[in-house]
Amino acid sequence: MEEVRVDYSKYRLEKAEKCLAAAKRDLVIDDLLASLNRSYYAIFHAVGAVTVLDSFDSKKHKGVISYFNQHYVKTRIFPPNTYKLIDSAFKLRGYADYKDMYIASREETQMQITSAEHIISLVKPYLIKRWAEIQQEEKLNMNAIFTRVSTRKFTPEKVNSKYIIKILRAAMAAPSACNQQPWEFWVSDDPEINARLSQVTPYATPAKNAPVVIVPCCRTNDLAVPEMVNIDMAICAENILLEAEELGLGAVMLGIAPFEDRMKAVADILKLPENFRPFMIIPVGYPASKHPQEDRYEPSRVHTV
Ligand SMILES: Cc1cc2nc3c(=O)[nH]c(=O)nc-3n(C[C@H](O)[C@H](O)[C@H](O)COP(=O)(O)O)c2cc1C
Repeated sequence: MEEVRVDYSKYRLEKAEKCLAAAKRDLVIDDLLASLNRSYYAIFHAVGAVTVLDSFDSKKHKGVISYFNQHYVKTRIFPPNTYKLIDSAFKLRGYADYKDMYIASREETQMQITSAEHIISLVKPYLIKRWAEIQQEEKLNMNAIFTRVSTRKFTPEKVNSKYIIKILRAAMAAPSACNQQPWEFWVSDDPEINARLSQVTPYATPAKNAPVVIVPCCRTNDLAVPEMVNIDMAICAENILLEAEELGLGAVMLGIAPFEDRMKAVADILKLPENFRPFMIIPVGYPASKHPQEDRYEPSRVHTV
């Protein structure tokens, strides 16, 4: 969202500068009406480059100009005479474009070019500062939760073991019922094992060419609240995905529990001790490609009580 606002703002400023250049060219060839039109648009787009940062838009030029006056001139972000310059350019362009037989003078045409130059020179440094601020805010708002997506295809690049340790540290940082920490982790970088894991369900193929596969397993003994182990394991699995994302890696959950046949197949491949049950398969590696996360926020799913 924020990035888009900045993109539109940059686009509008660029348009303003192009219009200003065109206004100067038109003056040189003595096309005064065209020049008045272009210099007005230079001003209008410069103003629009500011207002779009507030997500404000109006089909009517007057709407944009009066919003700018209200929020940027009256508030003294820009000097008080800015509005006068914009308003007089708006009127003059109206004559130039729509008034039959209007005869523009070179002097007023040149003056409007000077106004456009002045407004662009005021707006530009303001915009550069705001773009940087918005992008910084955006960076602060972005965290792994909002960039993570399931990664199912990986590059062949190996994953440094210190990253795997970091991921497992994140997994073990998860909350669990009565802090029972029911988890242990089997980690495989063996292509043969990973290929076999990829066959335990029709949906587990991403494990096949993953450089590393993590299988979080839960113990069946010494549990304070056995009924809640699946919840504990799910949370720890999410921590794995988020930490992988944080490290520039990708991962995906491949569902195993609570299906007994899948769990047995994985337990057999990994030769798990009797008291451990595999929960899911999580291939990890560098993503072969990455797409933005879709925004799934749905206000109708939120019920205020
Ligand atoms: C419990 C669970 C089981 C899943 N099993 C599989 C699976 O077997 N194969 C697979 O490719 N993705 C699997 N996924 C990933 C989901 O398909 C994925 O999270 C979902 O489509 C949303 O996409 P995103 O993760 O990119 O946001 C599973 C996810 C969860 C939470």
